Amino acid sequence: MPRSLSRAILLVAGLGVAGCGWWYNDVPSPDDLMYTIPWFDHMLGSMAVSPYESGSVPRTPPPGSVPVTGGEIDWFDEWRVLNTTTADALVNPVGRTDGLARGEELYGTFCALCHGATGQGDGLVGRKLGAPSLMTPRAAGFSDGYIYSIVRYGRGIMAPYGDKIFRQEDRWRVVNYLRTLQADQLGGGD
Ligand code: HEC
Repeated sequence: MPRSLSRAILLVAGLGVAGCGWWYNDVPSPDDLMYTIPWFDHMLGSMAVSPYESGSVPRTPPPGSVPVTGGEIDWFDEWRVLNTTTADALVNPVGRTDGLARGEELYGTFCALCHGATGQGDGLVGRKLGAPSLMTPRAAGFSDGYIYSIVRYGRGIMAPYGDKIFRQEDRWRVVNYLRTLQADQLGGGD
């Protein structure tokens, strides 16, 4: 075979390989790859992720933030000096019979270990700390807003639970549940 012919064949074969699109057709484009890769946690930092889109993610705003909608006023400065004016004036927005099952669940999770499953102050930890019974005329006499404030901010040596029971409605449901315990054990509604 003359040299020039074999060169020509090589050239055509080479062009054929280089020119045909098998590589580009069969290997996914990097733009499509992201749809085939499962979720990795580092992707949270990606611009494509919008963690703030979901209302189910609790976020604590920086101190001093002013919510435009849906925010809750802060009466801690008053509460810490035992001024209960704002606390007592709070109105339970969910109604006293709302979410009792949820209230029971939250009470069982966050309160029972100290105040006891039935509120008698006989939880395993509470006995050591001296957590009071909540089934007393005294506790029954607190306003709903006062108990709500205890849940949100704590009081004395009781820690705040507002960051754990972060939904306002859920805190009211704990109050509601406590009221049913009190009604059962102390009678007389409140
Ligand atoms: C780690 C133990 C602990 C847990 C958990 C706890 N408390 Fe308390 N609670 C206390 C202690 C201790 C006091 C007394 C605080 C004080 O000295 O002012 C108290 C006080 C109270 C009082 C006031 C009682 C009174 O007669 O003055 C209420 C109401 C109350 N807690 C409700 C709750 C609720 C509702 C939860 C769950 C969200 C809860 N507590 C979780 C320990 C606890």
